[in-house]
Amino acid sequence: MRFTQSSLPFLTLLSVVFAVPSKDPAPEVKESINPPRGWTLRSAAPSHHTIELRIGLPQPSFPVLEKHLYEVSDPFHERYGQHLTKAEVEALAAPHQESIDLVSEWLATHSIGESDIRRSPARDWVTIKIPITLAEKMLDTTYHVWTHDASGDSILRTTSYSLPKHLHPHIDVIQPTTMFARFKGYRSTIHDIDRSPSLPAYTGDSTNSGAVIDPSCNTTITISCLQQLYSVPSDFTPSAHVGNSIGVTGYLEKFANRQDLQSFYADQRPEAVGSTFNFVSVKGGLNDQNLSNAGGEADLDVQFAFGLSFPVNSTFFSTAGHPPFIPDINTPMDTNEPYADWLDFILAQEKPPLAISTSYGDDEQFLTVGVPWFQKTVPESFARRVCAGFAQLGARGVSLVFSSGDGGVGDGDDNPATQTCLTNDGKNQTKFIPEFPASCPFVTAVGGTESIEPEIGVFFSGGGFSNFFARPSYQDKAVGKFLSALPKGTFEGLFNPNGRAIPDVAAQGVGFRIFLRGQIVSMAGTSASSPTFTGIVALLNDVRLRAGQPPLGFLNPLLYTIPEGFNDITIGNNPGCGTKGFNATTGWDAVTGLGTPNFSKLRDLVIRKY
Ligand SMILES: *[C@@H]1O[C@H](CO)[C@@H](O)[C@H](O)[C@H]1NC(C)=O
Ligand SMILES: *[C@@H]1O[C@H](CO)[C@@H](O)[C@H](O)[C@H]1NC(C)=O
Ligand SMILES: *[C@@H]1O[C@H](CO)[C@@H](O)[C@H](O)[C@H]1NC(C)=O
Ligand SMILES: *[C@@H]1O[C@H](CO)[C@@H](O)[C@H](O)[C@H]1NC(C)=O
Ligand SMILES: *[C@@H]1O[C@H](CO)[C@@H](O)[C@H](O)[C@H]1NC(C)=O
Ligand SMILES: *[C@@H]1O[C@H](CO)[C@@H](O)[C@H](O)[C@H]1NC(C)=O
Repeated sequence: MRFTQSSLPFLTLLSVVFAVPSKDPAPEVKESINPPRGWTLRSAAPSHHTIELRIGLPQPSFPVLEKHLYEVSDPFHERYGQHLTKAEVEALAAPHQESIDLVSEWLATHSIGESDIRRSPARDWVTIKIPITLAEKMLDTTYHVWTHDASGDSILRTTSYSLPKHLHPHIDVIQPTTMFARFKGYRSTIHDIDRSPSLPAYTGDSTNSGAVIDPSCNTTITISCLQQLYSVPSDFTPSAHVGNSIGVTGYLEKFANRQDLQSFYADQRPEAVGSTFNFVSVKGGLNDQNLSNAGGEADLDVQFAFGLSFPVNSTFFSTAGHPPFIPDINTPMDTNEPYADWLDFILAQEKPPLAISTSYGDDEQFLTVGVPWFQKTVPESFARRVCAGFAQLGARGVSLVFSSGDGGVGDGDDNPATQTCLTNDGKNQTKFIPEFPASCPFVTAVGGTESIEPEIGVFFSGGGFSNFFARPSYQDKAVGKFLSALPKGTFEGLFNPNGRAIPDVAAQGVGFRIFLRGQIVSMAGTSASSPTFTGIVALLNDVRLRAGQPPLGFLNPLLYTIPEGFNDITIGNNPGCGTKGFNATTGWDAVTGLGTPNFSKLRDLVIRKY
């Protein structure tokens, strides 16, 4: 079914009457930023370079889509679980025909025809691959090679771009232009260095009958430890035949290795030996199965997400997108960021996995000129569009789970000593730096814990408050209580108390025993927490599907109504930016959210009638 005009009461209101295009060719600045902190302008862009530009067209009906999303995700609403179809979501994400036409017309004046264009399923993104010199002409700008001081990585970017005036209301964003993000995996072996040499002998499959947790779980996390900690009965086996599915995304050429997975299963999940995951290549993403090229992030994610949820149908997505290019090497490089590509792909699927884990992100950073003090490396305009794409998936019944980041209240930098947390507005003020996409209100952000009896918030657990996204109403009660309990004046000016609060929930994040390149290694990071929580979500979807109910979909509105389904974590804090960070407290907190899951409780709560 397509929505008719009458079923979309807001559409008429939103149909802003656009001024007749003046055809004014004079370009006007669309977006401009200060030179990004931590990056050095190195040289002019190589003239032979081609660039893939994504043009985001406005989505006038997005507020309607958001309304539907909240209704079908609210357990108290009569439409709970009545997810939208692909076609319904696409109709609500579509731009005005006028925007499509005017952008096509503009591209045609630069000899770019329909056959040179790739459009997203809802036609809200237009992608073109053109010489950098043409991009510079179209955007009235000059691209440069910028080098990231800390890593030496280089990218092609500009600090400002312009568009003909009449196109401004018809284009939300064009990237890559001003985005200096370096999306990275939140896998931090660095946090584990002290533990790895003393990995205790694995004690085998402990039974999960008593409440006592195997003491080895205090230092080494296995599938069995997670089952014990999160009350998953060891005899609970989800069905492979109720249409359930789980996915893990991979980026940056990090490969999930099937042989490592077999070794892991033999070690921790004997019943899964011989099973494997589906591999899906996005935009030419590779599947290098050479054991020496296995990626730690990908191996960690698939071993725990799929190990916990076996035998649910599991898929690993490998999205192409090389790490930033080395300008001295004359290879054509893809300078785009990967989320939007993955979104295009997954939104085009009829049946995306029902629960998807992602352990990559970057700082909400950098100042856009003319916008208040907030820092942005992921420009707000871009973050909003990607977040809107996540809302489309949620409305279709997909649960999206992201790591909250490994920098505490500071930036994603693993090393608190090198966190700067300074604004880029020339004033060099210290501000807490939340991570995106965890800061998107339409995804579930997972923080990290460690130890057992008690489980405590781990120091690196990313937490805080978004500077881009306002606090969603589902958080009002829980987060309002946390904020009002803070001593007066706490971190005043360092964070945005009205922002979307992070994380939503937490799970273990230290001492994960995995197989990497044939070796047993210990991994840490909220990178471990996200696949763990996603594995539990897949088990909960099993419970719902077997009860004849729709899958969970966008989780947060439900999770905040059932805090009793979580182990409240009340110890720990997440230092950063020269502060001790927030404290884990009774109830929701900005270190561990609602807490870690108790499957035994949640399995009843998710099928209860509200
Ligand atoms: C777990 O390890 C921590 C830190 O190493 C220690 O303080 C605590 O006593 C241990 N707890 C148990 C139950 O072994
Ligand atoms: C696997 O990769 C390693 C290192 O990248 C390389 O030395 C080796 O030749 C590769 N093996 C095969 C069979 O391609
Ligand atoms: C499992 O998922 C893959 C990828 O989405 C799909 O192609 C396949 O048909 C699914 N298998 C089953 C048994 O549902
Ligand atoms: C802010 O930091 C930059 C770079 O570290 C420095 O060049 C500038 O002088 C500082 N500005 C102020 C107002 O401290
Ligand atoms: C965290 O708890 C400590 C000890 O109770 C207290 O001194 C500190 O002020 C608290 N910090 C915050 C941000 O609430
Ligand atoms: C989880 O819930 C079950 C069932 O209510 C309860 O017996 C168990 O003690 C809970 N686990 C924890 C860690 O609180």
